[in-house]
Amino acid sequence: MSNRTTVQFVVNGASLEASVEPRTSLADLLRDKFQLTGTHVACEQGVCGACTVIVDGKPVRSCITWAASLGGAEVRTIEGFETDPTMQRLREAFSREHGLQCGFCTPGMLVTARDIALRLPGCDENRVRHELGGNLCRCTGYAGIVRAVCSVVSPDGGRLAEQRPALPPFQAFEPVADAGSAQAPVVPAAHATAESGAQITETIVVRGCDAQRLWELVSDVGVAVTCLPGARVDRFDGQHIAGAVKVSFGPVKAEFVGEGTVVRDEAARRAVIRGTATDPRSRTLAKADISYRAESEPGASGAARLVIGLDYDVQGPLAQFSRSDLVRSLVGQLVRDFGRNLEALAAGNSPRASNGFSALGLLGRWLLARIRGLFRPGRH
Ligand code: FES
Ligand code: FES
Repeated sequence: MSNRTTVQFVVNGASLEASVEPRTSLADLLRDKFQLTGTHVACEQGVCGACTVIVDGKPVRSCITWAASLGGAEVRTIEGFETDPTMQRLREAFSREHGLQCGFCTPGMLVTARDIALRLPGCDENRVRHELGGNLCRCTGYAGIVRAVCSVVSPDGGRLAEQRPALPPFQAFEPVADAGSAQAPVVPAAHATAESGAQITETIVVRGCDAQRLWELVSDVGVAVTCLPGARVDRFDGQHIAGAVKVSFGPVKAEFVGEGTVVRDEAARRAVIRGTATDPRSRTLAKADISYRAESEPGASGAARLVIGLDYDVQGPLAQFSRSDLVRSLVGQLVRDFGRNLEALAAGNSPRASNGFSALGLLGRWLLARIRGLFRPGRH
């Protein structure tokens, strides 16, 4: 029995229909069926950005975007920007500033650069470099590309300072308040749903325990980490924590190794972990501010809830994942798994064993949810 799906979507303004296999990538569909070969394919693992296109207004990696998930979506490839004024300025700037050599990365660079120009007008060079972190170029050394993008987004119309200061290293968080000080940690307010591209809040309800018991469970880092798929703690002295978490986005695997500081407010049953981490394989840097608090679940006796806030920033080859709906879904799934394991723990059972958190199962559910139209197609 055929498992092909017929998908209808708009590509560069034209309504198109295609019959695709479940694992046909958008990149292959664009190139092989629609002959839109301006979309280049290199790593095919979502890392290099060569295949970047716009789907529903956001940049996505077309090599790891399943075509079957795009029902009703609007796709724009490099060919669709022929008369776009921003893209025209970028093309001229890339030529003027020697922003390309072999040109293989250029379509993806231009698509990303246009997104930066429209989303962050007036941003500085550091931000441009940060935003371009998910697009790799093996020829130019990036200087010309950065100059070109800056010349389009900078408020002075492109004049760069004669002497540009050296770029600072990836910025770590400011030191946080000492756990013993009177200053309470700043815990972001709870929200029912995700907010901006770099902030996610999730609430999990844990049955079978009250707020104090839940707080004790999550305060025992050695115990709590057994509930978090893919996580391990190497060191914890009550304030400083070091460890790692494994995550995979389909074929893209990452292990973020890092350390942070824990600030707790026992009376309010809340805490903040601030940390930075690196995935050595992809040389991706991440910093995160994880807050959590335990409180009673209103209207449900024998149940408590944990409100978890994640404020994160990612720099490097995996940076574009940080803007994706997929990463939001992944974090949401991770938190729900954490909640289920906490519940098992509260009931005296063992958490489910896990070697790492894979997004593969999630990808399947995510794909199904899209096809069923439960939410708009998510993009990187
Ligand atoms: S080919 Fe898609 S990210 Fe490299
Ligand atoms: S110009 Fe050759 S890879 Fe960027």
